[in-house]
Amino acid sequence: MIGSIQSNEICEDENEFTELKKIIKRKIGFNCESYKQTHLKRRLALRLRITRSRSYNEYSGLLLKNPEELTQLKEALTVNVTELFRNPEMYEFVRMNVLPELIKTKGDNRMLKIWSAGCSNGEEASSIAIILREFLGISYKKYNISILCTDIDDDCLLKAEKLAFDQKQIEKLSKERLDRFFVKDGIGYILDDELRKIFKIKHHDMISGPKLGGFDLIFCRNVTIYFEHKLQEILYQDFYNALNEGGYFVMGKTESLVGPAGHMFKTVDLRERIYMKKGGS
Ligand SMILES: C[S@@+](CC[C@H](N)C(=O)[O-])C[C@H]1O[C@@H](n2cnc3c(N)ncnc32)[C@H](O)[C@@H]1O
Repeated sequence: MIGSIQSNEICEDENEFTELKKIIKRKIGFNCESYKQTHLKRRLALRLRITRSRSYNEYSGLLLKNPEELTQLKEALTVNVTELFRNPEMYEFVRMNVLPELIKTKGDNRMLKIWSAGCSNGEEASSIAIILREFLGISYKKYNISILCTDIDDDCLLKAEKLAFDQKQIEKLSKERLDRFFVKDGIGYILDDELRKIFKIKHHDMISGPKLGGFDLIFCRNVTIYFEHKLQEILYQDFYNALNEGGYFVMGKTESLVGPAGHMFKTVDLRERIYMKKGGS
């Protein structure tokens, strides 16, 4: 076909692929080796098609001379898809079953530390904050709650700082939640101050960044799915270590708890991928 390049016209040479990965690491600090190579190739194929590059080599050349393409590639590689109350049944389960248990075991300790790892634009953390306030009701103010939101994508983190949502982002939200937890801001909405002030936004790479700890609840959803199996195992152990005893780990619906961590956690709900760090271990 004249004038358009089909995907099967792209030359996928392995040596060129290796060189391209080195350039990506050097230029945007993205460690390609940690991600599933099939995922990586799919995301790269997208950029190659859009830029009409016929080989990894040609695309490498483009990357080196075009800073705008570096930004586009970073966006393509990180996959920031998210939404408020993504998998609503999981949030309902956490609200009805996990939070009551967690609060019970906390006793007089009114400190609650939560981590949204791979937070994207902050929708996940906003949903967590909402169910917490719904569950705690008037006791909410008596707790010292923090939600740490981390990601490697700084553009996402800027959005997570603002927590501003347009009409499309709030369309599935109930009117009750919208009225109670959001404030009108121009043509969109922002999360109200009471909830926003518990957020701590930080750049953090869960693969190479410092190990974090002391959490009661960790959400890492739809992030590790893109990682190599061995790395998934390491990260699940990291999350286990990062939890307080009796703390909970929530994964994405299509992810599985592989490796030694699979035996260390107690399964709370397999369908919703919710696990608890067993006490006394
Ligand atoms: C598909 S989004 C998931 C967002 C949210 N957790 C959810 O389930 O809706 C994946 C996020 O993980 C982030 N991410 C990818 N690799 C990461 C890493 N090594 N460390 C921290 N965040 C990472 C991406 O930048 C992206 O924002």
